[in-house]
Amino acid sequence: MKTIIEPFRIKVVEPIRLSTRGEREALLADASFNTFLLQSDDVIIDLLTDSGTSAMSAAQWSAIMQGDESYAGSPSYRRFEKAVKDLLPFEHIIPTHQGRAAEHILFSIISGKGQQIPSNTHFDTTRSNIEESGAMAHDLVIAEGLDPANLHPFKGNMDTERLQEFLANHSSSTPCIMLTVTNNAGGGQPVSMANIAEVSRIAGEFKIPLFIDGCRFAENAFFIKLREPEYEDWSVPDIVGKMFSYADGMTMSAKKDAFANIGGWLALNDGELAEKARTRLIQIEGFPTYGGLAGRDLEAIAQGLKEIVDESYLTYRLRTTAYIVEKLQELNIPVVQPAGGHAVFIDARAWLPHIPSLSYPGQAVVCGLYEIGGVRACEIGTVMFGRQPDGSEQAAPMDLVRLAFPRRVYTQSHADYLIEVFAELAADTQAMTGFKIIKEPAALRHFTSRFERL
Ligand code: F0G
Repeated sequence: MKTIIEPFRIKVVEPIRLSTRGEREALLADASFNTFLLQSDDVIIDLLTDSGTSAMSAAQWSAIMQGDESYAGSPSYRRFEKAVKDLLPFEHIIPTHQGRAAEHILFSIISGKGQQIPSNTHFDTTRSNIEESGAMAHDLVIAEGLDPANLHPFKGNMDTERLQEFLANHSSSTPCIMLTVTNNAGGGQPVSMANIAEVSRIAGEFKIPLFIDGCRFAENAFFIKLREPEYEDWSVPDIVGKMFSYADGMTMSAKKDAFANIGGWLALNDGELAEKARTRLIQIEGFPTYGGLAGRDLEAIAQGLKEIVDESYLTYRLRTTAYIVEKLQELNIPVVQPAGGHAVFIDARAWLPHIPSLSYPGQAVVCGLYEIGGVRACEIGTVMFGRQPDGSEQAAPMDLVRLAFPRRVYTQSHADYLIEVFAELAADTQAMTGFKIIKEPAALRHFTSRFERL
């Protein structure tokens, strides 16, 4: 069969309120043109994030009833730990309430003033946690990863030559190397097994630990299966095991590739570091057998990890983004190619050349999508990354708009509606205008900044 169907039936539904365009224009103006400040029940299709928004399975909901809420020694922790270890070859599994808490703990114990942490591309919370520790975050993705139209199959790869040069100058001040799979901020693009192996080899040469930010590990593993011929006959769990065998630890948000609404972990092999991490965990999250989570959340993650490596799910998952990318290309809308795993990225800079980066072309697309169709997307460009640590502002490497797909939530007719909204926007791109920021916080400004239309 050519049609790739959603490999699930729907048993529980959440109604969507269908607002009018006039209502949405008023709501967006009230939210100062920042879609993070909208109420979610005023959104028709919410593609703000794939994080924590997954539909859980019947098996996950029933696992939740098995949650043991004991403060210490809960069997829910043992089931969680086993599920993580069944896939990922790490010794110490430290549960946190979400990914950024794992990052915070890791960087608070290994990094500090004057240090440097390279990655393919740090996600915004990762960068922010590194900078808060006093260290500097560096993005060393391959050049193809910054060219939206380039068809390289692994645009998330680290530029290993630059990494080597970087370490030749900074190895003594580099406490770890990070690798984000898939590379969210760079378009949801995968990292190849060969690249993970080479980064690991370089890390070993300089005796620096490698940590993988594994939020979307299953999507990355399936891309490896599809695009790296050596692995086409491997099972997804085996590919996952091999990917992480090259690392010394990982940070994880279970809100992505574990189908959970909350959760995360820090995994490590180094016992001394794990002890420091657990001490920090107790201070800020909770006892090591629950971290920042309820026992029921640990159960949902444990079951989710069994489901996420299912190939019929991953086939449908990667087909969703590829289908939308194909349709947007038919409309001549510039998109990041090839399609990423969890999201479709629009190249707003290329689409709206009449809006300079410092007037935020990505924000213009985000606002247009909401006003025309009630679709909520997220700018990943100069609004998110333009503010420099010294307070100045410069254009981000790319001005993208991300449409992130919650897992198992929307159907193909939702995708077709989205295409129709884009067709209407594309019919008059000049109607999209730039913005200026009239109020912004000191860090992570995209969440709460207020805008005015130019
Ligand atoms: N790393 C990556 C690559 C991420 O995409 C995220 C979250 C985190 C770390 C932090 O995890 O949210 O559980 O604290 N990304 C979400 C997103 C928020 O929309 O892309 P968290």
